[in-house]
Amino acid sequence: MSDSYAVIGNPIGHTKSPLIHGLFAQETGQDLTYVVIEGPLEPAQAFAGTVRNFIAAGGKGMNVTAPFKLQAFAMADERSERATLAGAVNAMKFHHGRVIGENFDGVGLVRDIEVNLHQPMAGKRVLLLGAGGAVRGALLPFMAARPAQLVIANRHLDKATSLVEQLASGDSLTACGYAELESMGPFDLVVNATSASLTGQLPPVPQSVFSPHGTAYELAYGKGLTPFLRLARDAGVQGIADGVGMLVEQAAEAFTWWRGVRPETRAVIDRLTVPLN
Ligand code: ATR
Repeated sequence: MSDSYAVIGNPIGHTKSPLIHGLFAQETGQDLTYVVIEGPLEPAQAFAGTVRNFIAAGGKGMNVTAPFKLQAFAMADERSERATLAGAVNAMKFHHGRVIGENFDGVGLVRDIEVNLHQPMAGKRVLLLGAGGAVRGALLPFMAARPAQLVIANRHLDKATSLVEQLASGDSLTACGYAELESMGPFDLVVNATSASLTGQLPPVPQSVFSPHGTAYELAYGKGLTPFLRLARDAGVQGIADGVGMLVEQAAEAFTWWRGVRPETRAVIDRLTVPLN
């Protein structure tokens, strides 16, 4: 019998994960099945019950998407350091009845930026917009990429500040409000990790943060030119990208973790890319 994996979320109809993992399995010759599970929204304990049923039926691992990343974190028996900082788990591996929790969102994002978009962060000025789960997941991998300066800007400054304090990593990591960005000059990389684009909104980011030779990255994907990307394009930014590459790269990380073999991502990203213009 082939090994069985799943993605769990709610709603989950839009998920690209079965397609992505199916293509990875084909390409690497791995024998596995990958199903979609619509997780129960309530009662709160029902999520863990659904996961346990999948394990009892022989499940080997799961991808976790909204709104279950915190519940997956809570039920994990072991968690990686980046999952711990994120307070969220987006991939689980089941081993002898134990649930091991990981978070590959940040590494997937860094890999997309550095490898696929050819924009190494070392020594660069990097701006992260937002201080929610997406930024918490990105922080450790971003720090590991050694930017000269990493600034987290958020509407509620206290959320950004507490993240910076948690990491206590010196002067290279700072928090600020949007107004302060006005006087900070251009950044090499600006990542919109707020949820503003999901509702067609624009974070109050000044155009002066963009550099024509830099990169503007929108975490949302498949939404075309979001207000954030449009602002960047109007500021003359050459490199604009949405989160489709991150989606595929975080899946590749999970696949590698589960199967011990790394799939190629380029063809899968190309297949899922919706042109921005
Ligand atoms: P999660 O559930 O992933 O943690 P969240 O807490 O909803 O997500 O966080 C979403 C992020 O997007 C937050 O940083 C939020 O800013 P605040 O913490 O100040 O609320 C940010 N966000 C959402 N809509 C925004 C908007 N229109 N402009 C700027 N930031 C926005």
